[in-house]
Amino acid sequence: MTNFDAVMQITKRPPVVFTGGSGSWLKDSDGRTYLDFIQGWAVNTLGHSPPPIIEALRRQSEQLINCSPAFYNDKMVRLSALLAQHSGLHQVFLANSGAEANEGAIKLARKWGTKYRDGAYEIITFDHGFHGRTLAMMAASGKPQWEQLYAPAVAGFVKVPLNDLAAVEAAISSRTVGVMLEPIQGEAGVFEATDAFLRDLRTLTHERGLLLILDEIQTGIGRTGTLFGFQHAGVAPDIMTLAKGLGGGVPLAALVAHRDVCCFEYGDQGGTFGGNAIMAAVGCTIMDTVTAPGFLERVTVAGERLGNGLRALSRRHGCGEVRGRGLLRALNLKREDAASVVDRAMAEGLLLNGPRPDSLRFMPALTVSDEEIDRMLDILDAVL
Ligand SMILES: Cc1ncc(COP(=O)(O)O)c(C=O)c1O
Repeated sequence: MTNFDAVMQITKRPPVVFTGGSGSWLKDSDGRTYLDFIQGWAVNTLGHSPPPIIEALRRQSEQLINCSPAFYNDKMVRLSALLAQHSGLHQVFLANSGAEANEGAIKLARKWGTKYRDGAYEIITFDHGFHGRTLAMMAASGKPQWEQLYAPAVAGFVKVPLNDLAAVEAAISSRTVGVMLEPIQGEAGVFEATDAFLRDLRTLTHERGLLLILDEIQTGIGRTGTLFGFQHAGVAPDIMTLAKGLGGGVPLAALVAHRDVCCFEYGDQGGTFGGNAIMAAVGCTIMDTVTAPGFLERVTVAGERLGNGLRALSRRHGCGEVRGRGLLRALNLKREDAASVVDRAMAEGLLLNGPRPDSLRFMPALTVSDEEIDRMLDILDAVL
């Protein structure tokens, strides 16, 4: 039995040690295999240890790993250009985690507020939203359990209910500089901001001279069937953040902004590992793969298969709605036993996540096959 004493206990982990992975499958130290519909928390865009990432890491590690953020490197420059080109935005700051990218977004918005909006600094965020675990991002998030944790909270965030435009309007004051949200609230249990709400919010923020900041850390890089979640609604944010799928499993994040908002001065923002060549090389590979012809269309088809399969299961077992888009889905079980379903699925060799007591979340690799989706549905059927 492995001794886990030296590992800080920050979450309840099953007593299993993973030692290998390939595509949609993980292997533990006893040689057992598991079909993985968690994928590092919606991170492994191309599955476990995919050949394009292995090759990018090998090639780049032989060429250049890190030459300091104080210098340009070719992969930092290329990845920034790719993200700008595909998003319609203009400048990119590369970072290492979603929370760090979001912190950068808030700093940029506050700097812009100082320069152009009489010092406005407040950001309207949403109940149950999730933006990361730094102190400021905990304050930006709408998790009720976090309200008192690590008090005092960072000031400057005002919460309103999702999809409630009147509440956003009522929360706007002379202190407001922007509105920040996820196109789909993933950690909350996969709740969508409706396309109509996103469009109305874009109109409102334009009218009131406020920034629209989209946290695409979970929804970006093809997860919902479009490269970015906002493309379903046809809106363009002023600032967008990416992480998770951008690195395909390695730590890589990005703050992407419209040129009109890019007002950092030298020294305002930075970070030792930001834009390092080896992670940026992986990001370039992910972008090249996800934007190749047919890739996103396949995500949409796979997402429909998953959604239809979950709806059929729901009917058979008396469960509730299926939420989400593309390969980010949730099933409402209509009973509060998600944790035990997750445990029993794992015993049957299937890895699932239960983001709420009544819901399961599905976030497979974007390369998941039809057979793997069907296999997952069969195992879940038996477990339910
Ligand atoms: C929407 C969203 N924003 C931010 C984060 C935080 O990202 P990280 O854990 O990389 O800091 C997450 C992580 O789950 C997320 O889903």
